[in-house]
Amino acid sequence: MTAAPSVTESVGESVFDCVGNTPVVALRRLFPDPDVEVIAKLELMNPGGSMKDRSARYIVESGLRDGSIRPGTRLIESSSGNFGIALAIAARVHALRFTCVVDPKTTTANLALLHRLGAEVEQVSEVDEAGGYLETRIRRVRELLAADPDAVWINQYANDRNWQAYYHGTGAELAAQLVRPPAYLFAAVSTTGSILGCARRLRERFPALRVVAVDAAGSVIFGGKPGRRDIPGIGSSRIPELCRPSEIDKVVHVDDVDAALGCRELLAREGIFAGGSTGSVVAAIARTLPDLPKPCRIVAIFPDRGDRYLDLVYDDDWLAAARARRDDRQGETVA
Ligand SMILES: Cc1ncc(COP(=O)(O)O)c(C=O)c1O
Repeated sequence: MTAAPSVTESVGESVFDCVGNTPVVALRRLFPDPDVEVIAKLELMNPGGSMKDRSARYIVESGLRDGSIRPGTRLIESSSGNFGIALAIAARVHALRFTCVVDPKTTTANLALLHRLGAEVEQVSEVDEAGGYLETRIRRVRELLAADPDAVWINQYANDRNWQAYYHGTGAELAAQLVRPPAYLFAAVSTTGSILGCARRLRERFPALRVVAVDAAGSVIFGGKPGRRDIPGIGSSRIPELCRPSEIDKVVHVDDVDAALGCRELLAREGIFAGGSTGSVVAAIARTLPDLPKPCRIVAIFPDRGDRYLDLVYDDDWLAAARARRDDRQGETVA
């Protein structure tokens, strides 16, 4: 008889068992000042391509555990990007139905991914009172909910399990990965779930941590004037219910052009191929660094990979058009 192998196999039950445990790397080529240390948490290495795998997994698995999501439930969410894709994966893995409400700004690549993952895609086309699609999308979500008693709205902007996913996930991992205290956390915001979850967990271990939110120019989360912004993932046209400005020490607004330049610089210097909001974080750090006391240790969250942005921040024509719009706006301000 052959003896049973003594090694324990490490085989996941689904792709969601590969979510998390993302690495941290120092960006010494991009920020070579010996008095400065910038450390990036590579959330872009999650299997669905973004940190949103964490909130999708946590929300769906907690719901299945407490019975608020059951076999046969139809998940509904308004999302045109990473969270929709992560929920579509969660629905596949747990044999749930998923309807994703999108708008005409959703990229063809994301629409194709959602379809291939088996999501039902509802596209709204009517512009809302604010000139965007958010309110129209939420209205469509409410109609779908009213029509299906088995439907559950995930509602990431108001769902406490959103920030809790990052408290127990990204934040807990960082608290264990970092031995010396970071002085600053830089993170891009939309629902504010990831920055708040990470900040709450990290401040338990490093109470002096200062938290810097990186928002898109034209986003209204922290009271800015609404305006056009074309990079998905970062910013919002309404204030999320989860948002707690008292827990944020500083807000830096970055426009589409500077975000694209940040992405390109990161790729050229560090070989890290990241999405638009990561470029915003890089630009915000570069802009803020001269004012920070030295020596200075910064930890930054890098939310997603660059593949979904090849037609945006990595496209020269797109960048030229974004620059022209910015020059026009600055011309109007001066005139
Ligand atoms: C690429 C990217 N960056 C940043 C964010 C902002 O994260 P949060 O919604 O947790 O504030 C998102 C959210 O969708 C995102 O997709």
